[in-house]
Amino acid sequence: MIPDEISDTKEVFAEKSKVPEACIMVIFGASGDLTKRMLIPDLYNVYRDKLLPENFTVLGFSRKEFDDQSFRNSMKEAVIQFTDDDIIDVDIWNKFEKNIYYMTGNYDDPESYKVLSSKLDILDKEKNIKGNRLFYLAVPPDSLSPILKNLAACGLNVNNSNRSWTRIILEKPFGHDLESALILNKKVRQYFTEDQIYRIDHYLGKESVQNILVTRFANGIFEPIWNRNYIEYIEVTSSESIGIENRGGYYDNAGALRDMVQNHLLQLVGYTAMEPPSTFDSKSIRDESLKVFQALRPINIDDVAKTVLRGQYTSSNIRGKYSPGYRDEDGVHKHSRTETFIAMKFFIDNWRWGGVPFYIRTGKKLPTRVTEIVIHFKPTPYRLFKSLNDIAESYNMLVIRIQPDEGILIKFAMKVPGTELKVKNVNMDFHYSDLSDVTLPDAYGKLLIDCMLGDSTLFIREDAVEACWRFIQPILNAWEKNPNIKVYGYPGGSWGPDCADDLIAGKDFKWRYPCKNLSDDGNYCEL
Ligand code: BG6
Repeated sequence: MIPDEISDTKEVFAEKSKVPEACIMVIFGASGDLTKRMLIPDLYNVYRDKLLPENFTVLGFSRKEFDDQSFRNSMKEAVIQFTDDDIIDVDIWNKFEKNIYYMTGNYDDPESYKVLSSKLDILDKEKNIKGNRLFYLAVPPDSLSPILKNLAACGLNVNNSNRSWTRIILEKPFGHDLESALILNKKVRQYFTEDQIYRIDHYLGKESVQNILVTRFANGIFEPIWNRNYIEYIEVTSSESIGIENRGGYYDNAGALRDMVQNHLLQLVGYTAMEPPSTFDSKSIRDESLKVFQALRPINIDDVAKTVLRGQYTSSNIRGKYSPGYRDEDGVHKHSRTETFIAMKFFIDNWRWGGVPFYIRTGKKLPTRVTEIVIHFKPTPYRLFKSLNDIAESYNMLVIRIQPDEGILIKFAMKVPGTELKVKNVNMDFHYSDLSDVTLPDAYGKLLIDCMLGDSTLFIREDAVEACWRFIQPILNAWEKNPNIKVYGYPGGSWGPDCADDLIAGKDFKWRYPCKNLSDDGNYCEL
């Protein structure tokens, strides 16, 4: 009976929700996209759910001119636009916005930081915050350095007293390549200690990503078969139906490898492939995922063309409607070779995963938004039912659906009821939404609360950032050195270049396609 189980689950959730001490969160880049799409809407949601103290305070900082009230108004509009609920709770918003403030400042102007410092002191007293400060850097990479330096120059990098804390959250991209990531890490460490630094990857804040660890380590049935003896290959797909929206300026210098693979997708690989940590604490979990990143087999520069496939969406008709190509987007170079699609194959060199291929695929303007990890198990050693002309029965698949429709699905063979002996693959499908009383917290909301609580488990450590870049760097080098490595065009609304299928082809391997191509036309071509 599900209802009892649900109420039990609710109690566990309620019991575990800790409310952090009050703090002031300073958002650098407060007029930007991230603040209005994610940070403020998610903070409002956790405030509404009583996961933040009443006197939690936000101070927006950016170059744009706002006063407190006009900033509050613009944030209210953002919450209405970007939260899932149709209507905002006006009473709750009114309380929440009383604690939102704004100051105009220049990231590289020391005077702005003096103003910031005295504003913080005033708010601190007024709101009875007790000195806790959280700096969120949602700014382009070239603004990081002046902000760090100026914060330190005003003494804002250290704890206010020995009973308060000061922490800093750094948004991705954390560096543009290995070298810049090393420089950046060094720079941040010059002013902040590692336990003050929280490098955010919002994928780790997704409920279903944390559930990977629970599925693997709270169930006895998976661990014994979670290795090269039983697993044939692993696939991680993160497809998006949207294009680059209005982010041409950023995206054209990044591309899918930097934007999605170096961080989000490798983190998913880390959780899928790690050894069981000895305890469930931040250090042990992060140590284990680091070992996975360190064991990623470096891709030989000469093999890049064969094992890393890049694509770029071209104009097409999606469901009968014209959709522009990547090169027609604002802020994108007319002859850009930036990839909006990546499919790649690699190995993890350790005992558990020796010889098991991992496949990653991500892209913009694909037919649907889905992120899933698919564990393809080895077939039965002997096909007993082959005379039935159905090979599917011998394969099992475990699909961990990260989003949307979070859940877990197992595919296995069953006899079709009837007098004949027919075998069919069926699904055992769990949807998070079946736990209907539990609303899944938004990723940023969850991570911000964790940071305020001082729990760094779901944040990326310095060594992990560097290990991931070490793996990615030879691919960047190969593309730079050999511009002839192909960039394949694919029509928006399709599943990417056809040749992505060849990358995975072999034995009975194939990508799982959660839905069909939507593109009505367009050619796959080499750009
Ligand atoms: C961001 C990338 O980090 O993640 C975006 O910069 C991408 O390009 C986004 O669209 C995807 O996040 P989600 O949560 O929608 O899968």
